[in-house]
Amino acid sequence: FSAFLTDSFGRQHSYLRISLTEKCNLRCQYCMPEEGVPLTPKADLLTTEEILTLARLFVKEGVDKIRLTGGEPLIRPDVVDIVAQLHRLEGLRTIGITTNGINLARLLPQLQKAGLSAINISLDTLVPAKFEFIVRRKGFHKVMEGIHKAIELGYSPVKVNCVVMRGLNEDELLDFVALTEGLPLDVRFIEYMPFDGNKWNFKKMVSYKEMLDTLRQQWPELEKLPEEESSTAKAFKVPGFRGQVSFITSMSEHFCGTCNRLRITADGNLKVCLFGNSEVSLRDHLRAGASEEELLQIIGAAVGRKKRQHAGMFNIAQMKNRPMILIEIGAE
Ligand code: GTP
Ligand code: 5AD
Ligand code: SF4
Repeated sequence: FSAFLTDSFGRQHSYLRISLTEKCNLRCQYCMPEEGVPLTPKADLLTTEEILTLARLFVKEGVDKIRLTGGEPLIRPDVVDIVAQLHRLEGLRTIGITTNGINLARLLPQLQKAGLSAINISLDTLVPAKFEFIVRRKGFHKVMEGIHKAIELGYSPVKVNCVVMRGLNEDELLDFVALTEGLPLDVRFIEYMPFDGNKWNFKKMVSYKEMLDTLRQQWPELEKLPEEESSTAKAFKVPGFRGQVSFITSMSEHFCGTCNRLRITADGNLKVCLFGNSEVSLRDHLRAGASEEELLQIIGAAVGRKKRQHAGMFNIAQMKNRPMILIEIGAE
């Protein structure tokens, strides 16, 4: 495995997340402020060619999984073409996408043909009116349609990301679990994380332990599944159910020790940690004509500076980072 992608703690970074756009067709409360965020001028965003050049380089060095994120990745007009071109890279085993699901049912057949192998869909409530409150837009039924399309086309499991916030959707945990009885879903309850502009506070966060207690009261037989290497999620299953439920415990029990992820933001910065604010512009070096070797040196130096773990939830909440939308998920 490439020395450039191995950090000083021996973590091998074989998973690259690439943000395709800063724009989104929703306005989720936990992701961005109501007014949206100032967007990077188009000329400063990575072109498709630059994305592919960087992807090729990382795959050559040992990355075997790429996840496309945003903003909302499905609003980039050439997303299908990007997937198709990534699919040609030898050594790349998984191409995933994390989407809000709005355009999914429409695009999935083409994406599948292009080689998309894994789908994660964000859905924080099963109540249509609440959906509109959380995401500040309409579209609940489209997302559900997207989830069903993914199942129909054979994706398994289809991962559903649910950010749990006290007073907002914590009363729906059991309803989400019930969905896994008949559907091959992996419902992932995510601890609410602080990002710039999202008004995070400790009281709104529902911890993994608390969620697990709630589930156990209803289903004492809930069974823990074996840990997957470098996974963000702790998985469980109600015996007899088709799907499973997981917890992403970034706050209460971080999983930095086995982190294998790097990210490239839509404006071309390499970000070695979701909760780190040290970034290096690969775009500028590319545009200045850096050679492959020079790029690798720059990437290697950034990876080499990666910290052992994030600074802890209260420190993260104080720190200057980006709003989530400008890191990896999906503002017009
Ligand atoms: P898989 O590739 O299917 O394992 O999904 P994933 O969990 O890596 O990605 P997804 O885009 O579905 O993100 C789900 C949640 O995991 C989000 O809330 C992310 O912010 C969180 N997450 C993803 N990557 C990282 C990371 O590097 N560090 C931390 N702490 N959380 C992360
Ligand atoms: N806390 C936890 N998860 C978040 N996501 C977006 N913002 C936050 C936050 N503040 C989730 C989205 C998406 C995934 C990539 O990150 O729900 O599914
Ligand atoms: Fe919501 Fe994702 Fe869009 Fe952010 S990027 S507003 S989390 S759908």
